[in-house]
Amino acid sequence: MLANRRLVIDAPMRMFHWLFALSFAGAYATADSDHWRLVHVTLGYTLAGLLGFRLLYGVVGPRSSALGVLVRKLTGALHWVRSAWRAPTPQGVNWRQGQNLLMSAAVALLLLAVLPLTLSGYAIHDEWANGWGGEAVEELHEWMGNAMLAVALVHIARIAGLSALRRKNQALPMLTGRVEGPGPDLVQSHRRWLAALLLGCVVAFVAWQLISPPAGARERGAPTGTPPDATEHRGHHRED
Ligand code: HEM
Ligand code: HEM
Repeated sequence: MLANRRLVIDAPMRMFHWLFALSFAGAYATADSDHWRLVHVTLGYTLAGLLGFRLLYGVVGPRSSALGVLVRKLTGALHWVRSAWRAPTPQGVNWRQGQNLLMSAAVALLLLAVLPLTLSGYAIHDEWANGWGGEAVEELHEWMGNAMLAVALVHIARIAGLSALRRKNQALPMLTGRVEGPGPDLVQSHRRWLAALLLGCVVAFVAWQLISPPAGARERGAPTGTPPDATEHRGHHRED
């Protein structure tokens, strides 16, 4: 342990965070256009893979990354909302605790949102081949994508707001893994090798998807392909 520089977030968690944030930004930016559909779908699946890593790391990783912590934050936020609702006066409510709990819950929601987004995304994507999905699923997918953006913006605004309020960069621990101040390290080692492995897996997956897209994906509007003609390609036509 370094004096006054506690290690609180290890390298795999930091790598996970930035890959998650970048994949989300990329998936959102490419959601609107058929031309970028393959990139959108690839980044969507990348988010699902990253969620898988996070869940696994929540079981085998350090205690600070344990899934129990996330679950406690979610249930804690629910309890807080209920008790705040019952509190007879605004003075009876612990606003600071509530703010922390709700913001942690927002972060948990960012993780949870990936599952319904991937499933609905798959349902729409697969419609080209199988004819299922439908308008309602498309609407739901779009709504959830926008809801996830709103939560992500609240998350970023909170970190920017707290940094301004406390005159201390609150984003720094997600870059360096460390916070100032006395106390024990929350994680014992950086595990940089695991962060490198995670980055390698994501880069390999994205490259593999984009270089050799799944059958039919190019016609549906890969960045290098021509704009799709969905009716023409709804069947089993291939360009191989
Ligand atoms: C400039 C942009 C961002 C900064 C500076 C940032 C910073 C941070 C920090 C400091 C934390 C630690 C917990 C906290 O204080 O709430 C965190 C957690 C988290 N952030 Fe961000 N974040 C950014 C963007 C994003 C985006 C765009 C997403 C997803 C769409 C995201 C998803 C998450 C998640 C899921 C966690 C929880 C990680 C876990 O414990 O599993 N972040 N972020
Ligand atoms: C997990 C992160 C994801 C986010 C945030 C996201 C977000 C969005 C948004 C906002 C739209 C609506 C674009 C618009 O028309 O304005 C969209 C469309 C679409 N997404 Fe996703 N998506 C994600 C994952 C996926 C996945 C994993 C797939 C496929 C397996 C997918 C397939 C599609 C398809 C096919 C459309 C076009 C729907 C249509 O024609 O209206 N998405 N996505």
